[in-house]
Amino acid sequence: MNDTDSTSTSVVILSCSLNPTSRSHKLGVAAAAFLSARGVPVEVVDLADYNLPMCGGVESFDHPSVKALKAVIDRAAAILVAAPVYNYDLNAAAKNAMELTGASWKEKPVGFLCAAGGQASYMSPIGFANSLMFDFRCYIVPRFVYSTRDDFTEAGEPGPQITERVEQLVTTTLDLARALAWVREQPGT
Ligand SMILES: Cc1cc2nc3c(=O)[nH]c(=O)nc-3n(C[C@H](O)[C@H](O)[C@H](O)COP(=O)(O)O)c2cc1C
Repeated sequence: MNDTDSTSTSVVILSCSLNPTSRSHKLGVAAAAFLSARGVPVEVVDLADYNLPMCGGVESFDHPSVKALKAVIDRAAAILVAAPVYNYDLNAAAKNAMELTGASWKEKPVGFLCAAGGQASYMSPIGFANSLMFDFRCYIVPRFVYSTRDDFTEAGEPGPQITERVEQLVTTTLDLARALAWVREQPGT
């Protein structure tokens, strides 16, 4: 990662758990701290603060919270989805947020920070990633962070190994975002 040109790449961390003691949220906060320490503009969006309607309901796309969330995602060069694993998938709040704001994700790099109850659900972000690729041609970062309770300290904070994984994910996401920005700036593209 080159820190000297970091200010042009802004990252949104979409924290999708509605649980006030969420572990995936803590992964998102760790990612934000790593970005901030490197001077990269970052915004943590906690869906618990947004009170989003369910997508498809009458006027759901005109809801003020949806417009606010869309504006934040529009500004992002890259998105990190911090989410719980529910029923071998990301939680419904994450999917609902993506359905409501879809076009704003178009052709952006997206990485995943997941919290799960056990190791067996390791492939759970893949369905969500497929939706993003098929619908919005997102660039999925080819590594993701998957954590269980064992990855956190007794105080409930991310432990050293999972923190290192978070930092690797952030670094790869920034590399991808910057590479795409460089390509898009070339004449004739
Ligand atoms: C409705 C529900 C479904 C869940 N399904 C799974 C699952 O399929 N696989 C798994 O490993 N953990 C599952 N869990 C456990 C959560 O992934 C775990 O509690 C995780 O910490 C939630 O993320 P959060 O702390 O960010 O809210 C489930 C929990 C709930 C409440």
